[in-house]
Amino acid sequence: MRLRKAARIILVGAPGVGKGTQAERLLNRFPQLSAISSGDLLRDNVKNQTPLGIKAESTMKSGALVPDAMILRLILNELKTRGWLFPSSGSDVLTLNSVSAAAAASNQDFEADLYVEQPSLAQTYPPPQTSDDPSASFILDGFPRTAGQADSLDALVPINLVVSLKTPFSVIMERIQGRWVHLPSGRVYNTTFNAPKVPGKDDITGEPLSKRADDDEETWKARLQKFEETSEPLLNHYAKKGVLWEVQGNSSDEITPKLWKEFERRFGA
Ligand SMILES: *[C@@H]1O[C@H](CO)[C@@H](O)[C@H](O)[C@H]1NC(C)=O
Ligand SMILES: *[C@@H]1O[C@H](CO)[C@@H](O)[C@H](O)[C@H]1NC(C)=O
Repeated sequence: MRLRKAARIILVGAPGVGKGTQAERLLNRFPQLSAISSGDLLRDNVKNQTPLGIKAESTMKSGALVPDAMILRLILNELKTRGWLFPSSGSDVLTLNSVSAAAAASNQDFEADLYVEQPSLAQTYPPPQTSDDPSASFILDGFPRTAGQADSLDALVPINLVVSLKTPFSVIMERIQGRWVHLPSGRVYNTTFNAPKVPGKDDITGEPLSKRADDDEETWKARLQKFEETSEPLLNHYAKKGVLWEVQGNSSDEITPKLWKEFERRFGA
């Protein structure tokens, strides 16, 4: 399925709602979408020892968290490298009027770099432009997680769809409680979709199945509650921007067709 314009999207969902599954299905259905993960960017930049990667690595080695501004720079750098982020048209006009084409070209590089170096400049100068070409479409994963991070991202890269995936707590819990694992092999069963042939026994070895230590109700309640608390300001932020869309379902298979339909309505060719 082709797109007619760039989609810059974020999926938000509690642990257990199948965010990864939806992302994968969107990527399969809409081949022009790319996955951009802040965690992967961080790992790749460290591995390839890019200037940003070296900085991030020394921050992590000192025991500190990689600051938001650095994560933002990793993302901007990736978009710029892909050719999806360039100087604002306002500054384009200026450079074209005043300098030669060659100087304009180098000046443009300079300006895009400037934002990558110092994302906060977007508040003072005209922000860069993101490509509206359908091939410049992506699902951003791992960032932003807070309203503050969303604010700084918005100034540079306007996200145009935030999908809130909703599954009732009781349904998530039911699913978790139906999950059994054969610890020695890591084989996972669930009583709804993939029940063991003999209840409580591994299909291959016949050994007893157990619960994962962190699959108990209290742990999950705490995880889900923490998610509610941190995601609420983020979702409110995007609701105010008018880009939030909520989808409900008890399973991934129930959510996927709704999500595809809405995505096509907004971005489909
Ligand atoms: C049940 O297990 C199957 C196979 O491992 C998996 O594909 C499915 O997503 C699981 N469903 C739930 C609700 O956990
Ligand atoms: C989803 O689960 C809730 C709670 O168990 C139930 O009330 C509702 O009918 C389910 N919806 C569908 C479409 O199956």
